[in-house]
Parts: sequence; C-alpha cells; structure tokens
Amino acid sequence: MKVLVATQKPFAAAAVNGIKDIVEQAGYEFALLEKYADQAELEKAVADADALIVRSDKVTAAVVEAAPKLKIVVRAGAGYDNLDLEACTAHGVVAMNTPGQNANAVAELAIAMMIFMARTQFTPATGSEIEGKTLGIQAFGNVGRLVGAKAKALGMKVKATDPFLSDEQIIAGGAEPVKELGELYSTSDYVSLHIPATPQTIGSINYELITRMPKGATLINTARKEVIDEAGLEKALEDRPDLKYVTDVAPDNLETLKEKFGTRVFATPKKMGAQTAEANINAGLAAARQIVDFLKNGNRRFQLNK
Ligand code: 3PG
Repeated sequence: MKVLVATQKPFAAAAVNGIKDIVEQAGYEFALLEKYADQAELEKAVADADALIVRSDKVTAAVVEAAPKLKIVVRAGAGYDNLDLEACTAHGVVAMNTPGQNANAVAELAIAMMIFMARTQFTPATGSEIEGKTLGIQAFGNVGRLVGAKAKALGMKVKATDPFLSDEQIIAGGAEPVKELGELYSTSDYVSLHIPATPQTIGSINYELITRMPKGATLINTARKEVIDEAGLEKALEDRPDLKYVTDVAPDNLETLKEKFGTRVFATPKKMGAQTAEANINAGLAAARQIVDFLKNGNRRFQLNK
C-alpha cells in the first residue's frame, strides 16, 4: 500500500517526518510530492497511490480518475471545497478531513490581523485598541469558537451567528448569539469570517452586508476568497472610506483594491492561516492516522462523502 502526501504548499519538515513514521510503522510505503508545478504532475504522482494526503490541493475528477488504486483521500485541514466528493464517491474513494486540527493557528492569525489593522498596519499613524470593541463571528465552528475565546481574553465583546447552531450552543461557546446576519454586521466593529465555501456561501459577503458595518469597522477573512462578492467589496470600500478589509485569501482584484484603498486593505502574500509547525503536525499526523485506521480497521469517522 502506498500513501502519497501531495502538497503544493509543503508541511513543516517535522510533520512530514511524523507522517512518514506513522505510514511506515503501519507497514505501508510513503511517497512525497511537494511544490508540484501543475495538475498534470499531481495526476502522474497518484497513478499508483492507495491513499492520498493533501492540503488545499485540488483533488479533481481527473486526479481521482488518474488513481485507479486510490481508496482514501484525506484533506489535512478543515475546508474541503478542494475535493470533488462526487468523483470520489463515483470511484469508491473515501474522502475525509481533519476538523479542528489546524483551528488554533487560523484563530491566532485572525486575532493578529485584527490588531495589525487596528494599529494601522504597524505604521506610525494613530491606531485604535480592540479592548471594549465588538467582534462578530460569522460561523461558530472550531475556528470561530477559538477566535471568540481569544478575543474575550483581550477584552472584546463577542457575538456570533451560525445557522447550524442553537442559541444555547453559541452561549456555551462563550458568545452572544445573534439571529440575523445583518444584525451581526451592523453591530460589530470587527467581523471575522469562518464560513466554508459552498454554493450557499459563495459570493454571499456582498455590498449590502459589508456596508451595514458601523463606522471604522474591519472585515477579516481567514476563510475562503470565494465567499466574497469582490465587486461588492470594492464598491463598499469606495462608498465607505472608513471601512477596512484584511484577508488571508487574496481576492482577484487585490491590485485594484491596494491601488485604490492603500493601507485600508491588506492580504497575506500566500494563505498562511494554518501554516504553523503545530498545525501542520496536528493535521498531518491526524490524516496519516485516519488513513491507517481506515485501511486496517475500516474506521470511517470524518468521512465526508457518506
Ligand atoms: C483549512 O481549510 O484547513 C485551511 O484553510 C488551511 O488550508 P491549507 O492547508 O491550504 O493551509
């Protein structure tokens, strides 16, 4: 059995070594493909793979079709919009993610981004403090709850919405529940996005929502680029010179936004939310363990394409 780790954005070395140990101790062969140039290279590498570990790498129908022996693919991370689940199901491939394993790293980045923008991107211009301000969390899952807890420790008021959670669950997670998304936006100095990219959420963060934010507010996106209506964001920043946008997933119109709005907009050069040694180790090793447990014992916990 061959377990291939295919990561365009490599894991930290300690994570790669840990995955290799788990795979080899189980009696399987370990293979590594990092920083590959294109999908064709990935398709070639999966030809004899029985199991696959990826990050945001695109596991398309073509990848699945190019891997006739493939039994399981694990996205080492939370969001699985990069996996073609239908193709996996059609070819009898079990698809899994590793929810929560890299959540703390993303949550820490969201907090860091908030402070970075409050302190005017570390320029000498006068900034503001986040203590006493209100943070609205859109989607109160593993990342959202951690962002909330950290923000509360910094003296912020924390509100959250989540269509899949009851008020009681949000309160138990330490936030004030807000029913209407529009209300979350209109009452939060900072809104932090933690929604997945799905047909329901793609393009949903639009002009109407963004311009509901109060004076001087900042939108923080460590989730997915696709959830933003980019034209709507641009118009909102144009019409509301007090608003700011900070993101770990750069929009297609980033250059225009930077030209037009300067330090009111910031994007990391490459998605780095989960790029810590700890998160790589947590998610990578969890992925390897899930593969071994599936191949040896048939454990399907965390299967996405049920
Ligand atoms: C996730 O969904 O787990 C994060 O977006 C991390 O993605 P990455 O593995 O590409 O850094």
